[in-house]
Formats: sequence, C-alpha cells, structure tokens
Amino acid sequence: LLSASLLGIDFANPLLNASGVYCRDVAELDALAASAAGSLVTKSCTLLAREGNPEPRYYATPLGSINSMGLPNAGYQYYLAYAQQHDYAAKPLFLSVAGLSLADNLTMLAAIRAADTPAIVELNLSCPNVPGKPQIGYDFAAMTAMLEAVTQAYDRPFGVKLPPYFDIAHFDEAAAILNRFPQVAFVTCINSIGNALIIDVEAESVVIKPKDGFGGIGGDYVLPTALANVNAFYRRCPAKQIIGCGGVTRGEHIFMHLLAGASLVQVGTALYEEGPGIFARLNDELAELLTRKGYRGIEEVRGKLRTL
Ligand code: DHB
Repeated sequence: LLSASLLGIDFANPLLNASGVYCRDVAELDALAASAAGSLVTKSCTLLAREGNPEPRYYATPLGSINSMGLPNAGYQYYLAYAQQHDYAAKPLFLSVAGLSLADNLTMLAAIRAADTPAIVELNLSCPNVPGKPQIGYDFAAMTAMLEAVTQAYDRPFGVKLPPYFDIAHFDEAAAILNRFPQVAFVTCINSIGNALIIDVEAESVVIKPKDGFGGIGGDYVLPTALANVNAFYRRCPAKQIIGCGGVTRGEHIFMHLLAGASLVQVGTALYEEGPGIFARLNDELAELLTRKGYRGIEEVRGKLRTL
C-alpha cells in the first residue's frame, strides 16, 4: 500500500528525514536506518568538519521551529564512509552535499563518484551561505553555473534541495534552469523559510543566539508554502520527480504532499520533536487514510490534486 519509487529505486514507504534532522552522526543515522522510515538522508556536509553556530541554535514553538545551526557536520568523508557500509537492501540512503563553494562541491562529488556508492546525492542549493551573498537557490546565475559545472563533473542522476519561492516568475525561472539539466532527476521542495524571527514575549527576546535571532522556519508555519513549491515544480518539471518537505506532522500532511506531486516526503521539525518513532505513526496514519479513501497505492494519489 505504501510502497514508493524514485529514480527507479523501490522504497518501502515514502517517508524519510529532512536533511539536518537526526542525521549528524552514526548513532542518529543508525536510528533512522532502524526506524520505519523508507529511506534516510545524511546531514548536509562540507569539505571539512564544522562545529556550527553557538547554542541555543534551535527552538520549537507549538507551531514549528526556528534554527540557525551553521552547518555543523562531521565532514563529507565521514558521511561517505557511512554510505559505504550502509545496507542498501534494507533501505536507500541519500547523501546531502552542501559545499561552501562550487569548487568544494566538485571535490566532494568527485570523491563520491570515485567511491561508486549506491547512495543518491541531494545537492543542497539552499543552505545558509557566505555572508553578503544570497544562497545559490536565490541567485539564478550562480545556480546555473553550479549545475553546469556539477553536471559536467558528476555523471550520475542526482537531486537538488531548493529554498521556497514566493513569486510565480521565480517558479518559472528556477524550473526552466532545472529543465536544462536532465541529470537533475529530482527536486526537493522546500528547505526552511529563511531568516525569520521568533520572539518570546515574556523575555522580550529572540529565542536563538546566532544572527541576532534570525533563522530558518519549519513545521506548521511552512506547510502551505511547501505544498505550493511541490506543486509548482511538479507542474513545471514533468521529467523530474519531486520530494516534498515541510510541515508534516500527521498522515494527512503526507497525503497533501502526494496530491501536490511528491514521490517521497521528508519530515524535519516533527522528527526533531518526536524522534524516529514518528515514522511508524505517520505510516499508520497514511495507510489508514489511503484505505478509508479506497486507494491501493500512493502512485494513485501523486499529482492528482484537483483545481476548481
Ligand atoms: C543548515 C541549515 C539549512 O537550512 C541547510 O540547508 C543546511 C544547513 C544549518 O544551519 O546547519
């Protein structure tokens, strides 16, 4: 009932973590591998290990979360080593790559290619970047240059993780760029809504330390934006698959992402708050909803959103 497919690979169900959540070290990755998630993705990696920003750097409210982690990660070689010992018969694994420069991405992708791992690359075009420059996903010239260089140096299908867009002209332009690169086989929408501010009324204060309290938002706050981005790229990129990410706390939210066009669905804030046990609950809730509606598989739902 829940089986899914991406790049011709079978998944027991459409669920996985959103990169960044519960995937920074072997213990967390092993917990995801042992969970009911259909696959898993590693923390976005850089060439060298990073400590990340000072704490507190993540804060949850009843409606979602804010974070400015600062790319804490163990360095790409750590995640590549994890990928080389992973049991792919049990479930697929994605490697999230977030170089601080185009050159760093090319170095990491060359090593990943040389390792000949079955892991699937999710190239993060939407991570907090060099101060003073927009993230790659918001700089269409830089995004084009990145994809031109990466697709020349790396010869396997891969996906890109995009930031949310909020303007139809931006959906059109981003999709047109992606469509120039058939090797970009999937698109993950969305990363957090960037540079928001959560304020604690009693303390009259920001809630995270980095960047004067500014950070990326996830959770209930972002579901409609996530669904719009999934559906916008689903409509504009018919030769690609979409991975939905944003605002999933219950089975019906997965169903919404599927209707909008997602082939797989990632869980971020709710996984952070609930832990890997969330995947069994979400699978149960999705299965019950599909059964109640008479669906026999998720491919019967994908992209079937009705318009009025
Ligand atoms: C971080 C945040 C992101 O949204 C992302 O895509 C990569 C890294 C971080 O702060 O660690």
